[in-house]
Amino acid sequence: MITPSTLRPVTDKALKFYIETYGCQMNFGDTEIVVSIMRDNGYIYVEKMEEADIVLVNTCSIRDNAEQRVWGRLSEFAALKRRRPALIVGVIGCMAERLKERLVEADKGVDIVAGPDSYRSLPSLMEEVKSGGKGINVLLSREETYADISPVRLDRNGVSAFVSIMRGCNNMCSYCVVPYTRGGERSRDSDTILAEVRDLFDRGYREVTLLGQNVNSYRYGDTTFADLMRMTAEVSPLLRVRFATSHPKDLSDELLKVMAAHPNICRSIHLPAQSGSDTMLERMNRKYTRGWYLERIDAIRRHMPDCAITTDIIAGFCGETQEEHEATLSLMRQVGYQFAYMFKYSEREGTKASRHMKDDIDDETKTRRLTEIINLQNDLSLESNRQDIGKTFEVLVEGPSKRNPDELVGRTSQNKVCVFADTVHRPGDYVTVQVDDCTSATLLCHRV
Ligand code: SAH
Ligand code: SF4
Ligand code: F3S
Repeated sequence: MITPSTLRPVTDKALKFYIETYGCQMNFGDTEIVVSIMRDNGYIYVEKMEEADIVLVNTCSIRDNAEQRVWGRLSEFAALKRRRPALIVGVIGCMAERLKERLVEADKGVDIVAGPDSYRSLPSLMEEVKSGGKGINVLLSREETYADISPVRLDRNGVSAFVSIMRGCNNMCSYCVVPYTRGGERSRDSDTILAEVRDLFDRGYREVTLLGQNVNSYRYGDTTFADLMRMTAEVSPLLRVRFATSHPKDLSDELLKVMAAHPNICRSIHLPAQSGSDTMLERMNRKYTRGWYLERIDAIRRHMPDCAITTDIIAGFCGETQEEHEATLSLMRQVGYQFAYMFKYSEREGTKASRHMKDDIDDETKTRRLTEIINLQNDLSLESNRQDIGKTFEVLVEGPSKRNPDELVGRTSQNKVCVFADTVHRPGDYVTVQVDDCTSATLLCHRV
């Protein structure tokens, strides 16, 4: 039956959009900004792709396999589009910035390409597509921080949230595509950050992670990162504060002092080393030496003996000798990391490494070195967890365990996952537990 509503032109009805996110926490944060912008312009957010008129994919370019996964998804969207030609497909984020028009030319039915600094223009890009064109905006900005936009929180637990405090990166590590996909570094207005944090706390959130590619170089007017951390921690003693990521060259004593003075700033620092070899660090353009890095580790331990330290490692970067690889293994042992993200080097077009160095480590060697790194880290994680047996920790409850509804999952200040029997407490509560046993990934505890 024809009703007035089915007679309305398609472009007048509120379109529904679905969004899928790949990559780092910054990208997950950006997705929440995109949802906010789209909703404010009359689009309806849906969680199921089948219900959507618009499918957006927020993409990552950090390694080739991250991009390959997205190409796979785009083929699936293209198949869907053959059955539903009105479907609008948009690629946003780092891959959009890196590949630009090439994404539209790839014949996968992509209608919209929007880089990380152009999300405010998404509604107008949608209009261009509705009138039969393609919508492309990959301009990078020196100012955009989306400071005034309240992200629509998509996390389920309602306990922990990410707050973006800066965008872009100026470090130019020779292997890394981020400075090209996200542009230069800029810091967000500290008043808007604190307002967002206070609002989250008032809504029941009990943990915020301040996010940026290199948070320690945050600076807004006279406000440094250490100042911002102090002000964030002072929002409430019941609010846990974390941050990611900190570049070793900028990890200041001032920050360590602020952390040590505030028990609600979590005892956990992610300090990517990438390599343990001075010659390799030089080629990577990391701007610190192994000695400098280890001195920073000592400084962390001096200020906070119970602080967990985690890292990122790249295996098989250009020209990596066996000796350089072994220096990485020895650094890992010397620091005794609680956890690490570990990757095989993947050449990225346009970076200094791709222009001036040779990706000359064969895949077999890269794989073998990565496996050695992963095996060592598993041992280190297990060893670190074993040392916690018998200790008590205050954990922030995140929700029920997936395996057993009578158990809860929470994290220690050191960011370790604890599981314990408990049917009374709720997400957002603080509970004291004692560790009975462990795996390399989890502390098995009971309530005390
Ligand atoms: N700004 C953050 C990291 C962002 S990318 C920092 O400097 O700590 C996250 C991690 O991906 C990096 O720390 C690095 O270990 C890894 N990575 C970056 N580029 C890579 C590449 N081309 N191949 C393999 N791993 C890479
Ligand atoms: Fe990439 Fe280096 Fe910037 Fe991290 S600090 S985003 S690794 S260029
Ligand atoms: Fe990936 Fe871009 Fe983040 S390349 S790691 S999504 S900054």
